[in-house]
Amino acid sequence: MTSSLKVLADSYYNIDSLEKYIDVYRISKQDPEDFWSTIATNNFHWRKTWDKVLEWDKKESKVEWFKNAKLNITENCIDRHLRTRGEKTAIIFEPNDPKEKAQHISYNELAQHVNRMANVLKNNGIKKGDKVCIYLPMIPALTYTMLACARIGAIHSVVFAGFSSKALSSRINDADCKLIVTADGSYRGSKTVDLKKIVDEALLDTPNLETCLVAKRIHDKVEWVEGRDKWLHEELMNASSECEAEEMDAEDPLFILYTSGSTGTPKGMVHTTAGYMVFTAFTFKNVFQYKNDDVYWCTADIGWITGHSYIVYGPLANGATTVMFEGVPSYPDYGRFWDVIDKHKVSQFYTAPTAIRALAKQDLSFVDEHDLSSLKILGSVGEPINEEAWHWYNDHIGKKKCPIVDTWWQTETGGIMISPIPYVTPTKPTYATLPIPGIQPVLMEANGVEIKGNQVDGKLCIAYPWPGMARTVYNNHERYKETYFSTFPGLYFTGDGALRDEVGYYRITGRVDDVVIVSGHNLGTAPIEDAINEHQAIAESAIVGFPHEIKGSALYGYVTLKDEGSKRDHDNLRKEINQLITAKIGPIAKLDKIQFVNSLPKTRSGKIMRRILRKIASRDTENMGDTSTLLNPDVVEEINKNVL
Ligand code: WT7
Repeated sequence: MTSSLKVLADSYYNIDSLEKYIDVYRISKQDPEDFWSTIATNNFHWRKTWDKVLEWDKKESKVEWFKNAKLNITENCIDRHLRTRGEKTAIIFEPNDPKEKAQHISYNELAQHVNRMANVLKNNGIKKGDKVCIYLPMIPALTYTMLACARIGAIHSVVFAGFSSKALSSRINDADCKLIVTADGSYRGSKTVDLKKIVDEALLDTPNLETCLVAKRIHDKVEWVEGRDKWLHEELMNASSECEAEEMDAEDPLFILYTSGSTGTPKGMVHTTAGYMVFTAFTFKNVFQYKNDDVYWCTADIGWITGHSYIVYGPLANGATTVMFEGVPSYPDYGRFWDVIDKHKVSQFYTAPTAIRALAKQDLSFVDEHDLSSLKILGSVGEPINEEAWHWYNDHIGKKKCPIVDTWWQTETGGIMISPIPYVTPTKPTYATLPIPGIQPVLMEANGVEIKGNQVDGKLCIAYPWPGMARTVYNNHERYKETYFSTFPGLYFTGDGALRDEVGYYRITGRVDDVVIVSGHNLGTAPIEDAINEHQAIAESAIVGFPHEIKGSALYGYVTLKDEGSKRDHDNLRKEINQLITAKIGPIAKLDKIQFVNSLPKTRSGKIMRRILRKIASRDTENMGDTSTLLNPDVVEEINKNVL
């Protein structure tokens, strides 16, 4: 590389002034390939560089970045740091119980743990390309296992450990996982959860899964299936701490992560190696302005994309210190987040609006007891942050000194797409502000015409591929094409609405499809409807979101009953419906309100008019919009009269 390109790549990688942002953004738009190759060239370890930066088959919605490059992401997240910062803390593990000692895991130690785990996987027959399911609480073994998979080229599929056994088994089967790593149980505030029991139930239904590795966490007695179940600590004792990294192609899958959609079963989004690495590393560096001695903390669970990209891969690729928190914000009291910030001198803190709203409701003394002066940057993710929560976060946590980065992105995008760059982009409450360099947002009218200019709103799309984008839906590329690239041909459709203000800042206004974001969790309404329609007494159901003070949105169900159901007690039925949802999906998908109705408003072609149901649930019935296509307009009035 010429020295001028090296300087350029260094300077692009860390955007530290508004002038530079404007400059770099312009360059990235003029020539995205050149931009991303400049970023990728200098900041990563490649075993072989690429022949072509981007291959884009628009018709097939097929994208390949850094074609034919060879690498291993763990060499970038671990090995290359060992020479310069082997003793630096990679992970601070903060346990559920504040009385249990926190662990500081150095990069040297991380290397050993990951290699040992990689050998355990190999000893259990896992090879490059095999799929490994991870169903673990927020303990270091979770990070080790993900990186161990990446080390040997296995594809991890982390399932959030709050999902039910049914949700787990369907994900194991969909991805055809050969092995699962779980724990004897997990701590959650003052409670424990029997993870192994949930796994045992799930594995009754997973014919191709061979091995279940069990980490000891709560030292609980568990059921054991001989031949299938193995204690992880015993396996680790017999494994070497050296393991060569497998050479991976840029486009080899790194992981599968499920996200719900507006229809059908959850989609296994496939992220590949090189592009995901470059994109998460670049966005982490810029959005959190990470400096060498900073301690960075993202409170998400690694079971979601936020944890994958911004607890594990993005921070570690930058040699950062990343906090991993096992507990909940309310245990032992509502000051826990602030206590952890104080204890570990956290400099960047990244959390969700739902947590901010819940904590803002508590007495301020929970905040004021702690020294938060280490904080430099605050982040928000997962749903729109309302003005009140933004100000509370700014005033009481950031003490008006810490810029708030409201980061908009999705499981599918792999990393942050629209966000302020702190100390660079002037922030504005409730605005995600400007796109990351290399990202080209456009707003579209429903009829497919692009909305140009400022002070406009429309459906948010992305006009050009970026390295971190999911490449496909596992085993179902048609669904990928259909979901993301068919609404507006040639554009990636996000499913969100947005407005662009007079200076070009973006504000995300929320989903425009049948996905509801509850406490920052992306929930498709269709799978929930499918679950409850299995109830014997229920004929039909329609679920919509409505505004909720803490959760942002909550779920409202309209249910019609079969003859046999009409005699049943409504409160009992409500309980049964939520039990069914908990069993099929998990407690996060429970309905807040359930209204029994005689029939649902439908169009002449038989489609349920959710738009109207949404308005009724939100008590926003002044303007119902066009109801002329309704087959049964009178039911609207009846439903509205009995709204809960
Ligand atoms: C949906 C994606 C991004 C990782 C966590 C969620 C909503 C996300 C914001 C934000 C407004 C946001 C969108 C998006 N969303 N961040 N800063 N402002 N809305 O990932 O589960 O795939 O959900 O979350 O509606 O489409 P996800």
